[in-house]
Amino acid sequence: MIANPGQPGIVLKHVEKSFGRPGGTVTTAVADFSLDIAPGEFVTILGPSGCGKTTLLRLVNGLLKPDGGSVTVGERTPVPGPDMGFVFQSFRLIPWATAARNVGFGLELAGVEPARRQETVTRLLDRVGLSRYAGAYPAELSGGMKQRVALARALATEPSILLLDEPFASLDAQTREIMQLELLQLWSERRATALFVTHSVEEAILLADRVVVMGAAPNSLRHIVPIDLPRPRRDEVRTSPAFIALRNELTGIIRALITEDPNSPFFNRG
Ligand SMILES: Nc1ncnc2c1ncn2[C@@H]1O[C@H](COP(=O)(O)OP(=O)(O)OP(=O)(O)O)[C@@H](O)[C@H]1O
Ligand SMILES: [Mg+2]
Repeated sequence: MIANPGQPGIVLKHVEKSFGRPGGTVTTAVADFSLDIAPGEFVTILGPSGCGKTTLLRLVNGLLKPDGGSVTVGERTPVPGPDMGFVFQSFRLIPWATAARNVGFGLELAGVEPARRQETVTRLLDRVGLSRYAGAYPAELSGGMKQRVALARALATEPSILLLDEPFASLDAQTREIMQLELLQLWSERRATALFVTHSVEEAILLADRVVVMGAAPNSLRHIVPIDLPRPRRDEVRTSPAFIALRNELTGIIRALITEDPNSPFFNRG
């Protein structure tokens, strides 16, 4: 693993988070989750729907406080802000601002002068393939375009922590493969500490130093698979024997998680 000592690490110790529901029922979203993410490490998270992945990212961001255990980012309690790039599962673009203004919004808040802001926005819109849509409003963009604006916005402030919640889920397969390599390139320029949620086993392997497999509470962290593929990683790595072996290993782990869990709707259908 190549870490970047210049970036903060993320330390999760016995993290617990539950949500109360009207009527008094309580859902435990994350239970006893401990993980030490090295400065500059890229960790991807796989796990079935509802197992607590988004909740985990929100805890790392500081949007949520844990009920038990502790979360530290660079040895401090995390607070949301420009140093935490977050791509939300639901995009969360500002509807009344153009794509360009959405991308540059964090820089605008930080008081970055317009010429420099413009330069960053133009460069990032180009990197995500949306130069021609700089002046478009979110309502005029497809789901995949909105998702790419959200990614560019998360990168614009050059955060030292990147939290990416299924950032490519709305892209077509070909665009998604291009964006995965583009993200790797952008990430390698600064090597922020990254936590990336996905449902794609191949995407998880391609990007990560380690893949974390989550399951439902009370046992949130199920497996950690180190990915020792050399960097920089190019398209060809997807067909290498080492990649295919990792894919088979992870697919088996996830299949077992879904078919061997008595609480899963697909219990025993393996
Ligand atoms: N604000 C909330 N209020 C109540 N329950 C919540 C809240 N946020 C999450 N939950 C519950 O916590 C559990 C974990 O949700 P979370 O969104 O973290 O799952 P996820 O792994 O991201 O799922 P998906 O893959 O579908 O995005 C679910 O049972 C969900 O219903
Ligand atoms: Mg989620």
